[in-house]
Amino acid sequence: MTEAVAVEFQHVNKDYGSGSVLHDFNLTVPKGQIVTIIGPSGCGKTTLLKMINRLEEPSQGKVLVEGRDVGSADEVKLRRDIGYVIQQIGLFPHMTIEENIGIVPRLKGERKEERKERVERLLNLIGLPAEQYSKRYPHELSGGQQQRIGVARALASDPSIILMDEPFSALDPISRVQLQKELIHLNQRLHKTIIFVTHDIEEALKIADRIILLNEGEVVQNSTPAELLAHPANDFVIEFIGQERFRPSFPSGMAQHIMIDGLSISNISTISEALDLLRLNQADALAVTGNWGELMGIVGIEEISEHLQHDSKMKVGDIVKNGTCALFENTPISEVFELMQSQRILPVVDDQNRLIGTVTRSGVIEALGRHFHREETSA
Ligand SMILES: Nc1ncnc2c1ncn2[C@@H]1O[C@H](COP(=O)(O)OP(=O)(O)OP(=O)(O)O)[C@@H](O)[C@H]1O
Ligand SMILES: [Mg+2]
Repeated sequence: MTEAVAVEFQHVNKDYGSGSVLHDFNLTVPKGQIVTIIGPSGCGKTTLLKMINRLEEPSQGKVLVEGRDVGSADEVKLRRDIGYVIQQIGLFPHMTIEENIGIVPRLKGERKEERKERVERLLNLIGLPAEQYSKRYPHELSGGQQQRIGVARALASDPSIILMDEPFSALDPISRVQLQKELIHLNQRLHKTIIFVTHDIEEALKIADRIILLNEGEVVQNSTPAELLAHPANDFVIEFIGQERFRPSFPSGMAQHIMIDGLSISNISTISEALDLLRLNQADALAVTGNWGELMGIVGIEEISEHLQHDSKMKVGDIVKNGTCALFENTPISEVFELMQSQRILPVVDDQNRLIGTVTRSGVIEALGRHFHREETSA
């Protein structure tokens, strides 16, 4: 059975007038996967993306989207049907966040109430609560927040193909890891074709089903991340990816291998019960769950002690800190380690945001300890 194809480049040449950027370029992008494109600056990544939604035309050859030549497609419709997140964000400054995200659904004639609901859902998805952000203007947001809005806007028309040109480059490392995870998670549910350009090799390896390494307008390697690491096509690949990545220094394994039970409490428990649980487990933070077992956030020993002095019957739900990072069962340990630098405890959730366990610092350290001990003894 042949794999369904989302985008295909057939013998494409691209010349901006000062020499060839792409020469006899051929590439097939399968449907429903996250494909990352990496390569040195100026190698033609943005040019490739722009030829898919016809912001640029090939000088020769054809680009097919879902089997149809984009050269004969209606440009406006094509762009509405393909999500696009660009390097410079590109929000409309005179429109509120709500209007920015809802722009394509509005152009497509979606009803106001439905649009409002969609925008709210998307804002919550990218971690910016609608009640706080929907009426603001882009200049009232940080660069990273604006970039998140760019992602939400690309998702708003529910396109089957989304082009992303370094969409997370302005984010701090924590938000970046969070958004990468959200993107992977989202695609496990929605099966969009995401063509994702990045400079960041770590990011490219992490989120990709397939990774395409370009150099000077040519595909140097097109494979899964695992194949790329196991069988780099040539010295350029090794140099570009970084020698050290071919000798992984982190234990393999995922959050599920080091998560534990018991460090969680329901939001309707009192803070003195929370303190008992902390004492019992000799821990300094707990994950807090709501009525359906969904993750609400975390509470730490400091907040609990502070409030205990005033009112020991206070509920955990009243002091929980929202907006915590969470892991999935399959989050790699290397990433858990990175996130652990800034949090005392990391909740692990399923695809419905229900808590299934927690990872603590000592759990991560133990895993690292075991790994390095094994390396030393086998060296
Ligand atoms: N509108 C244009 N006119 C002339 N040359 C262009 C134009 N756009 C891009 N180029 C050239 O085409 C080549 C590929 O550019 P492109 O923007 O696709 O690179 P890129 O791989 O996205 O780079 P970066 O990683 O820096 O974003 C570069 O040499 C660039 O200078
Ligand atoms: Mg570019």
